[in-house]
Amino acid sequence: MTAVETLPGSAVDADGFRRALAVHAAGVVIITAQSDGIPAGLTATSFSSVSLDPPLVSFYVDRSSTTWPSMRTADHFAVNVLASDQAELAARFARKDIDRFAEPTRWRPGPLGAPLLQDVSAHLVCLPHDTVDVGDHLLVVGLVAEARVHSAGRPLLYHQGRFGRFIAHP
Ligand SMILES: Cc1cc2nc3c(=O)[nH]c(=O)nc-3n(C[C@H](O)[C@H](O)[C@H](O)COP(=O)(O)O)c2cc1C
Repeated sequence: MTAVETLPGSAVDADGFRRALAVHAAGVVIITAQSDGIPAGLTATSFSSVSLDPPLVSFYVDRSSTTWPSMRTADHFAVNVLASDQAELAARFARKDIDRFAEPTRWRPGPLGAPLLQDVSAHLVCLPHDTVDVGDHLLVVGLVAEARVHSAGRPLLYHQGRFGRFIAHP
């Protein structure tokens, strides 16, 4: 073991850390919520399942996010799981200074108010369950109240800073 490997995690250089994380491919979701009648949402790759019983899912949100403060007070949030042809939508929900819900975004209010995006592979409507400060992010855990699959098509993936598609082994 080298000296570097025995040092605490804080010694890892930021570029090397980012490069290693970029190698990890991830599915892409858009988290949406509606607070005081105003829809808000952001693209995330940090989505994960947490627990089956009770049904819990999670994602991490950057504490510097300017969008999250208007989402965190909502009664519910939705996880919209993106399909392979929704890269532009994912990019749109990561852009600042635009109305992410304006045309060409197509959406409708869900049963509990959280915006549901059109043509996604699946959505999960969640009640806020727990929020934990973790480093420069917040871990947000949701209790799933509704889960719907709309199409079992291919997922949108994110890898090495680019969007792409999944190809199954024959
Ligand atoms: C592919 C991709 C994945 C992202 N994943 C996350 C994430 O997991 N958590 C997060 O806080 N921001 C994530 N972002 C950044 C947000 O989508 C968005 O850029 C940010 O919220 C915009 O800043 P704002 O929150 O101040 O509007 C991701 C962006 C992209 C393009």
